[in-house]
Amino acid sequence: PARPDLAGRHVVVSAGGTREPLDPVRYLGNRSSGKQGYALARTALARGARVTLVAANTGLPDPAGADVIAVGTAEQLREAVVKAAADADAVVMAAAVADFRPAAYAASKIKKQDGQEPEPLALVRNPDILAEISARRARPGQVVVGFAAETDDVLAHGRAKLARKGCDLLVVNEVGDGKAFGTEDNEAVVLGADGSATPVPHGPKEALADQVWDLVAARLETAP
Ligand code: C5P
Repeated sequence: PARPDLAGRHVVVSAGGTREPLDPVRYLGNRSSGKQGYALARTALARGARVTLVAANTGLPDPAGADVIAVGTAEQLREAVVKAAADADAVVMAAAVADFRPAAYAASKIKKQDGQEPEPLALVRNPDILAEISARRARPGQVVVGFAAETDDVLAHGRAKLARKGCDLLVVNEVGDGKAFGTEDNEAVVLGADGSATPVPHGPKEALADQVWDLVAARLETAP
């Protein structure tokens, strides 16, 4: 049964994975499916929120009632999220944002040169959107949530990342060996800046999404 505990709230969710173009036909990308972000959007809608879903290369059906903004690159995702966050009560960054992008974009397709070794690929850093949103807090009491996929030392890396990003909650997923990416299920621990740690047992991405909204709603209720 849906609780309308997010009624009157505007939440922003980013989903999917960014693609950083090298030339008109190639990009650097990642394996994020967007399923967890879409589950977050659907569950927030069921709980009464107005939802802006910033979707990077997902190919998933738009959740009915969400305001969906399709983006490609990290820079486009940043622009859409920052704009939507201006009046948001909560921002959940479930998208896998490329940490780096090619330093140069070739306007025509890069050709291989016969008998020549390939050029090394120069990369530059992308903006850290989660850190920026956390530092900015477009409105007082705004709750900011990040995701982290870790392969080892999950809790220690999660704690360090939470502090570094400055967000309120960090959902830490263990990945690798077919876990999480592209699958229907997730298992995670949600770390709080208040020192809390909420384990979420293996289950559907909707269940993890609802747990995240429980923690967000609790923080919104106690916000000044
Ligand atoms: O640093 P890492 O990529 O592991 O952090 C993951 C979290 O940070 C996710 O919530 C992701 O959406 C966000 N992120 C971001 N901008 C980046 C890289 C990651 O907002 N450039």
